[in-house]
Amino acid sequence: MARKGKEAVKEATEALLEEQRVFRPLPEVVVEANVSPKEYQEAIEKGLTDLEGFWEEAAEELDWFKKWDKVLDESNAPFYKWFTGAKCNITYNAVDRHIKTHRKNKVAIIWQGEPPNEKKKLTYYELYRRVNKFANVLKSLGLKKGDRVAIYMPNLLETAIAMLGCAKLGVIHTLVYAGFSALALRERVNDAKAKVIVTADGLYRNGKIINLKETVDEAMIECPSVEHVIVVQRTGQPIDMSDGRYLWWHDLMEGVSDECEPEILDSEHPLFILYTSGTTGKPKGILHVHGGYMVGINRTLRWVFDLKETDIYWCAADVGWITGHSYIVYGPLICGGTTVMYEGHPLYPKPDRMWQIIDKFGINILYTAPTTIRMLMRFGSELPRRYSLKTLRLLGTVGEPINPEAWMWYYQNVGRERCPIMDTWWQTETGMFMIAPLPLSLLKPGSATKPFPGIHADVVDKEGKPVPVGKGGFLIVKKPWPSMLRTLWGDPERYVKQYWDVIPGGVYTTGDVARKDEDGYFWIQGRADDVMNIAGHRIGTAEVESAFVAHPAVAEAACIGVPDPVKGEVAKVFVILKKGYEPNDELDKELRQHVRKELGPIVIIKSIQFVESLPKTRSGKIMRRVLKAQELGMDPGDLTTLAD
Ligand code: WT7
Repeated sequence: MARKGKEAVKEATEALLEEQRVFRPLPEVVVEANVSPKEYQEAIEKGLTDLEGFWEEAAEELDWFKKWDKVLDESNAPFYKWFTGAKCNITYNAVDRHIKTHRKNKVAIIWQGEPPNEKKKLTYYELYRRVNKFANVLKSLGLKKGDRVAIYMPNLLETAIAMLGCAKLGVIHTLVYAGFSALALRERVNDAKAKVIVTADGLYRNGKIINLKETVDEAMIECPSVEHVIVVQRTGQPIDMSDGRYLWWHDLMEGVSDECEPEILDSEHPLFILYTSGTTGKPKGILHVHGGYMVGINRTLRWVFDLKETDIYWCAADVGWITGHSYIVYGPLICGGTTVMYEGHPLYPKPDRMWQIIDKFGINILYTAPTTIRMLMRFGSELPRRYSLKTLRLLGTVGEPINPEAWMWYYQNVGRERCPIMDTWWQTETGMFMIAPLPLSLLKPGSATKPFPGIHADVVDKEGKPVPVGKGGFLIVKKPWPSMLRTLWGDPERYVKQYWDVIPGGVYTTGDVARKDEDGYFWIQGRADDVMNIAGHRIGTAEVESAFVAHPAVAEAACIGVPDPVKGEVAKVFVILKKGYEPNDELDKELRQHVRKELGPIVIIKSIQFVESLPKTRSGKIMRRVLKAQELGMDPGDLTTLAD
């Protein structure tokens, strides 16, 4: 059965590649959608001719304490400002405003724990009260507008409450994915100079308890800015709380007032910092702000995912990534939807967990990543086929280009050829979907289709000239958008250099390569720089290399990404050992453990190859493309700059 299903998908995929088939959404999906074909056409037009007007209209859907004087301020480009003069608060829009309406008693968040019998639901009113309480806790600890709080937690209700509570006070949060190591946590906490860390005693992953608090202890050896660590009791194993800086969440929340006025914030007031990998060893602190960010995520979620108040929506990502910020927490709550948060692993206790969750809650919209789809595909189509999945109306994907085979499998076995797939291209930096279809679009498997209205994306060469149809080039954005990053935390120069000074013409460089086809559809081909995409997570090769050279045995290391059928890409590392060290299996194992400790389990090392030398330019830069070409049996290109 599995075999046959796989062959059928393969045939369908091949046919599709040959025919260049397009998939048309079902008429009932289009008719019921939030945006009609006519409105979409008008929006595209307006995005081209009256950019500010387009976003101003989008901003009108939200609540402001004071409206803006100006929609877009370009006077200090590329430090663009949106909705200047306006006053707002994103938590007010995500929570407070709903409790004055019929949504007061509506379920805001459905939380599903990894242990199947653990689930919780929070109404908007309950969420409102808890967010207020948490905000008051922060106040009692002396936190003020502009201070930073690091949140090192898995998908828990408390994670969302902590984020919203910070934002309510104008405190800037920085989430650190709970799979990151103590060193990665420490680096981020210290860069942000966080005063508080919010964490949990542990988390459930694949049936096991992972002790998060221990990792925090290790990070805390050198975190001078941190005054308090708030610990949520999740897994309940005994932990040491004797250090006076450690406080239990449940103790702090007890007896504290459930009323808290939102801070009246400038539209450009920072909302969060989210660190992401770049081409150097040091992660970049992407900074987003209240006003423009809420405008961008609200509009894209309503239009692309067609989110309606009656929908139960599940984004199966982790809150620690931008997807979780924009489309698990802030976006769906701003829209007044019901958002599902799942704590655990998609294969636990069995590989049908996701399908079971969909049927259990009657989920209408599912958003996940190609790497998850490919992982689930390996268990055969009979698993999703055992479930009804009849409530699904729309599917989404993000994180990397989706291969047509995975697209077809998702379309046929999950969406039952009824649900359009929204392939959404965007980045931590963009805050919101940038290239994505609407439910009315014609879909081509593997293409994120066309830029969202108001997004001026193009594919150009390194001089900034558009490349011909079908040819690869650099993906850029020519005009600012409201939910764009504002700067890199503490490093405005790097912000300019990294994104705006790469290609001439004052354009934003995404770092991706892409091509456009004859219909204007965008096909993303991958990263243009030394950044890998492992299971949808961005990891700089430089970070991996610096983790390797931090080991006493390693003199030099060069890391490249190599293709992997499930993870998309995995790391291969070439290592030159210091004198006195011998390559062997034991050292191989030790290096892997060392890197796991330095960077966390998200970096998947396929292999380590011990070498005597590395290809370098005369100035001493490692030529990774030579290693990569060699590895993949490709032409290495121009070698004239190679020293040896
Ligand atoms: C990079 C951004 C945005 C949330 C998840 C990752 C790649 C993302 C797609 C897509 C092809 C994609 C790009 C991009 N990417 N979505 N639909 N098709 N590639 O966020 O960690 O900031 O990574 O992920 O390379 O630049 P991120």
